[in-house]
Amino acid sequence: MVVIDATDSYGLSRTKTTPAFGQPLLYPVSMQRGIFITFEGLDGSGKTTQLRRLSSWLESEGHKVVTLRQPGGTALGDRIRSILLDSRSEDTLGTIAPLAEMALMFADRAQSIHEIILPALASGAIVLCDRYTDSSEAYQGAGRELGSERILAMHRAVCDNLQPDLTLLLLPSLESSLLRARRRNQRSAQQKGTDEGRFEREDDDFYRRIYHAYEAIAAREPQRVTAIRDDASIDDIQARIREIVAARLGTTVS
Ligand code: TYD
Repeated sequence: MVVIDATDSYGLSRTKTTPAFGQPLLYPVSMQRGIFITFEGLDGSGKTTQLRRLSSWLESEGHKVVTLRQPGGTALGDRIRSILLDSRSEDTLGTIAPLAEMALMFADRAQSIHEIILPALASGAIVLCDRYTDSSEAYQGAGRELGSERILAMHRAVCDNLQPDLTLLLLPSLESSLLRARRRNQRSAQQKGTDEGRFEREDDDFYRRIYHAYEAIAAREPQRVTAIRDDASIDDIQARIREIVAARLGTTVS
């Protein structure tokens, strides 16, 4: 099953496995020292709140934690973020082509892997990342209808196929996800200051496609992706996330 075992320039061991027959060509990467955890979900899914709470809890348990979000988190990434998320970008830059959008998301990701994620993992930290390649597969692959295969090929090429050890996917029912995304869009339209509404003006069909793509990713990679599907309270979901993460760390929740 295991076909390649190499050590990269950060001293991280990358174990590549052959995909099951009929599965897309994905190479899970196992980290020797740190642990790479990503949070995924639709806009308004509450993942950012959960990430912050998990980070505080892990730190209180004595772990070194590094958090970041995509797009953003590096100087280059923050520039890319403002281009991609600001709803006024296209007034000056012209319509951003879906493939250009995808490529910019990956440019941001490549920079944060190089600058933040790999060094943090090499130092033994737990890295908590708000969105990663699953977001590109869901938003650009399905939302913008570029297709999953193109996104996964880009991931292999640009991210050296770095896979999270665990992905926490916050995915309540479709109806409640659409409602939350809509509420979140209205809130951010009312907010003053930085305008980050370019994605948030999309319609229900766009979010429906994203939702189904997330479901497909969870079904395809059950070992990596743990989906939390119900509409439980923030505290209940937080407790569940602690248990899932503690199980991965081989500890128990205190
Ligand atoms: P953000 O304000 O961080 O939203 P959220 O709190 O919902 O994560 O905005 C990120 C937006 O960028 C979000 O609408 C999803 C989108 N996105 C993509 O379309 N593709 C990607 O690869 C990533 C990382 C984000």
